[in-house]
Amino acid sequence: MITTRIIATGACVPEQIITNDDLAKIVDTSDEWITQRTGIKERRISSGENTSDLAIGTARQLLEKAEVSAESIDLIIAASVTPDYTTPSLACMIQKEIGAVNAVAFDITAACSGFMYALSVADKYIRSGVYDNAIVIGAETLSKIVNWEDRSTCVLFGDGSGGAYVEKSEDCGIIQEELGSKGEIYDILTGGYTPCSNAFNDVESGVDSMWYVSMNGREVFRFATKSVVTSIRNVLEKAGVSADELKYIVPHQANSRIVEIVSNKLKIPFDKFYMNMDRFGNTSSASVPIALNELNEKGLIERGDKILLTGFGGGMTWGTMLITW
Ligand code: COA
Repeated sequence: MITTRIIATGACVPEQIITNDDLAKIVDTSDEWITQRTGIKERRISSGENTSDLAIGTARQLLEKAEVSAESIDLIIAASVTPDYTTPSLACMIQKEIGAVNAVAFDITAACSGFMYALSVADKYIRSGVYDNAIVIGAETLSKIVNWEDRSTCVLFGDGSGGAYVEKSEDCGIIQEELGSKGEIYDILTGGYTPCSNAFNDVESGVDSMWYVSMNGREVFRFATKSVVTSIRNVLEKAGVSADELKYIVPHQANSRIVEIVSNKLKIPFDKFYMNMDRFGNTSSASVPIALNELNEKGLIERGDKILLTGFGGGMTWGTMLITW
């Protein structure tokens, strides 16, 4: 059976570290509040790098680690809610900079589930025999759309990018997945609204603030715990794999309390969940691949291990994938 196997992982984040204490200097918050409610201690914030710079950094690493030429890349999919432009796509910018002249390149958007959705799309192209390989990247500079005067959101997010180079395989790879969307509650997490203004229509009033990330934290929390628990359960059940067989779960790095609840509900030991949100915060579509790359770089996973990636986010959306490494 043809599957899609992750051959290499990579990540690229801005150098600037902003701690909780740094944030307490600009909004009414504290290290204690942020740590207790979210598990986040610091995050990387761009000091000029745009999303494409981070994404290109990741793509270059992927080529180097996988030891493949740029010309051999068939497909580039980037996931982002903060691309440099509406057009060109981030993926086309990556294509130009790395010289992947033979690739088809496009973006998708599924917020914090973006990497899961992008990997799923790449998997379908590969399984169907259309392409043999792909670069899949999640990249964000959320600092562009965060309201730095709103303490309820600005403490949560960070900038960064991560990704994977995947290839057609006949043994290991993606073995089961579930993607889901619940558009009827899209308004509990929004950002980047662009009003319909033109020469014949005045700008809608009161929409300026809708550029910024806006969130009903409690509703998002409720959605996250429910969707992640159900999708992990469904994926394991469909694959006939027990939680004991999993080496690691790499969850979206939004909030350690969400992960605690998921761990309790599924009765999966907390230390099977790989977390680095204390150092990066929530980097949306980049969060799962940044964490996966860390896990891989540390040598904590070996070929043949079963790992589970799971994300949730705006839309609302979720995605869970079981992989034999
Ligand atoms: N520092 C200090 N106090 C803060 C604060 C901050 N950064 N942000 C909010 N508060 C205050 C609120 O104003 C509120 O004060 P009040 O009781 O005087 O009104 C109090 O803390 C509690 O706020 P609440 O929003 O009820 O807190 P919470 O326990 O729900 O935690 C979140 C807030 C955002 C951490 C939590 O809801 C959450 O993590 N939700 C999921 C968010 C998420 O994952 N988003 C990304 C999805 S991809």
